[in-house]
Amino acid sequence: MLRNIFMFVAISFSACYVQADTLYENLGGQAGIANIVDGFLEEISYDREIYPFFAKSNIKRVRSKLEEQFCHLSSGPCVYTGDDMKSVHTGMNIDEAHFNRVVELLQTAMTKADIDFPTQNKLLQKLAPMRADMLHR
Ligand code: HEM
Repeated sequence: MLRNIFMFVAISFSACYVQADTLYENLGGQAGIANIVDGFLEEISYDREIYPFFAKSNIKRVRSKLEEQFCHLSSGPCVYTGDDMKSVHTGMNIDEAHFNRVVELLQTAMTKADIDFPTQNKLLQKLAPMRADMLHR
């Protein structure tokens, strides 16, 4: 019994130790987010379905706006200064398959950046409500 209690306390303590307080911290702060966004754009650049959407875009701008957006959404110390998701993605005719593929590319980038799955899911949950602003526009 005492041994079980000890195990429980030890496991709880180590779980607290590994998980930081905010999503921003669990993503690795500013440097971690910059690394995720770089990886995300790299995955996009390899993808035959998705890359054509970005072929004429200013990737430097997209990189910096995505960094701001992920930082802001994860409660980091940033303000998002980009355009709203509806106006950015209008005219692209994004469908469900495109959207799902982009989410997969982000997941791949986060996995390669060693972000744990609960943290990945928390960021994806923050992005999910934007889906309706992007599809079929
Ligand atoms: C979770 C989903 C997504 C998020 C959070 C997201 C976020 C963003 C952000 C923050 C920007 C920069 C905005 C600015 O320049 O002010 C952007 C631009 C862009 N996004 Fe998305 N996006 C998502 C999904 C998609 C999908 C599914 C596509 C196409 C398949 C796409 C294509 C683009 C393109 C082409 C641009 C650059 C637009 C330009 O050149 O002006 N995005 N996105």
